[in-house]
Amino acid sequence: MHNDLYAVVGNPISHSKSPRIHSLFASQTGEPVEYTAIQLSAGNFESRIRSEFDHGWKGFNVTVPFKEAAWNIAEVRTTRAEKAGAANTLYLNENGQLTADNTDGIGLVTDIQNNLGFNIKGARILILGAGGAVRGVLGPLLDECPAELTIANRTVVKAEALVEAFKDYSGTTRLSACGFEQASGPFDLIINGTSASLQGDLPPVPPSVIGPDTLVYDMMYSLSTTTFNRWAMDQGARHVHDGLGMLVEQAAESFFVWRGVRPQTPPVMEVLRNE
Ligand code: ATR
Repeated sequence: MHNDLYAVVGNPISHSKSPRIHSLFASQTGEPVEYTAIQLSAGNFESRIRSEFDHGWKGFNVTVPFKEAAWNIAEVRTTRAEKAGAANTLYLNENGQLTADNTDGIGLVTDIQNNLGFNIKGARILILGAGGAVRGVLGPLLDECPAELTIANRTVVKAEALVEAFKDYSGTTRLSACGFEQASGPFDLIINGTSASLQGDLPPVPPSVIGPDTLVYDMMYSLSTTTFNRWAMDQGARHVHDGLGMLVEQAAESFFVWRGVRPQTPPVMEVLRNE
């Protein structure tokens, strides 16, 4: 039997765990999926994607730095992709139109609520960062009706712009922006969506944002405890998690979008943790 072809595209891409995750999903579900990683350059993103679809490829995941480009080239966007302003999932819809979806936010929410057992409804949330990663998750977080969502960023105007962009979707949630130093806690949930740890930096939030019951979630994933989670534990946080669960859940949602079959995620997380 021939397999349907999928890939994750980005630059760099060799570190990506997506091929491993999707091959575990394929074995688990018996779906005839073959999934590889393709490194693209800025100049050939659109032509390569269009040409692979023309050659029968079924779908792509898109990662840094092409998520905005993926959103731009799409002829149709799902509501969640529209809000996110970026896409991580591409496919052709039933009319053959290039369609962009974004499964990052639902992946984060599913990990927090289903895997970690934290109820977002009514919670006080602090999210650090105001770049593409944060923008991608705000819609699904607001859909769960937290009591408060504070966006703190080094460049405050970028956090304020996100508040402006999402104020119509905030419902009963108090949505606000501030600088790191102004974040006033403790919060029930803190999500680090900055890329500060790539430079070994910490966002300078006051330790008082963390209480003993605060759930601390770093959207970054690494084999050892992330810089931010190490800092949070030093401040007394007892519940710290990295972004592996989000990574697997966004992949599962993409798999579902493409195949109509929902893989079991806990066994896949277990395998990845032990590799
Ligand atoms: P991504 O797609 O990962 O979100 P991005 O759009 O470049 O990447 O956004 C990076 C985020 O991390 C931004 O919120 C950035 O803050 P600024 O908006 O002030 O640039 C934040 N960030 C990056 N390096 C940081 C550092 N050393 N300290 C604090 N925040 C940092």
